Amino acid sequence: MSTKDEMTDYLDVAWQAASAAGEIIRDNWQRPKTIDYKGAIELVTSVDCESERKIVETIRRNFPTHSILAEEETDLAGAQPDWRWIVDPLDGTTNFAHGYPQFCVSIALERSGQMLLGLVYDPLRGECFRAVKGQGATLNGAPIATSSTNELDKALLATGFPYDHRENADFYLSYFKAFMTRCQGIRRGGSAALDLSYVACGRLDGFWEMKLKPWDTAAGALIVSEAGGKLSDFSGQPFSIWGTETLASNGAIHAEMLTVLKLRNV
Ligand code: IPD
Ligand code: CA
Ligand code: CA
Repeated sequence: MSTKDEMTDYLDVAWQAASAAGEIIRDNWQRPKTIDYKGAIELVTSVDCESERKIVETIRRNFPTHSILAEEETDLAGAQPDWRWIVDPLDGTTNFAHGYPQFCVSIALERSGQMLLGLVYDPLRGECFRAVKGQGATLNGAPIATSSTNELDKALLATGFPYDHRENADFYLSYFKAFMTRCQGIRRGGSAALDLSYVACGRLDGFWEMKLKPWDTAAGALIVSEAGGKLSDFSGQPFSIWGTETLASNGAIHAEMLTVLKLRNV
């Protein structure tokens, strides 16, 4: 197990990397973008890659033996492959490309498959969500906790749609409709890492999405669980960053959300 001092070092480096990347993102969000297409509607901008290079360079300089998996260009095996950083250099790229102010940097560190720390940084609001395994979650240094809303009827939820939403619109909308008719409201913010962080600090009561990638959820999921929330797949089985279903909630409405996910066609 890592000592508290070691964890402080890891967190410091995660913050150094996220704040430097955040500065690049903040400097560019209202400027014209250089955009490439990964798919019909999946974008990547030069800023995603610039942000990733800055984060990878910062981690490598400090922990040259660690592995790094980042969304755009990086899958590095270090001499200590059990230590792995999982990075989304810009979560909310579609928002960023349109100048819609909802995006973040997400950085997590795992050891032998166990998530040790997660950091999600919103450079426009200056909000930094952090969690360390077993030590709770914070927002700009102050402890955070999930909401106490205990019925779906009173809950504010969020979701997102995978990049195949044109092809599978009815399928994803069946989930949306099932929740829409039972909760207080649904938001589609466009940054899964921020959605999870918002569940952690009680701004949202629950969140569901399919086909998220490990870099979307690695940090945010730890932040939710350390803030007292609950995560699972849509059948209530343990959540995995490698799985295809993410359900996160304050815990109190989790069972009700699972029931709705099962009954969505009814
Ligand atoms: C996306 C965002 C979005 C979610 C998508 C993700 P990206 O990540 O998190 O909210 O709905 O499924 O892929 O592509 O902006 O890093
Ligand atoms: Ca992402
Ligand atoms: Ca991304």
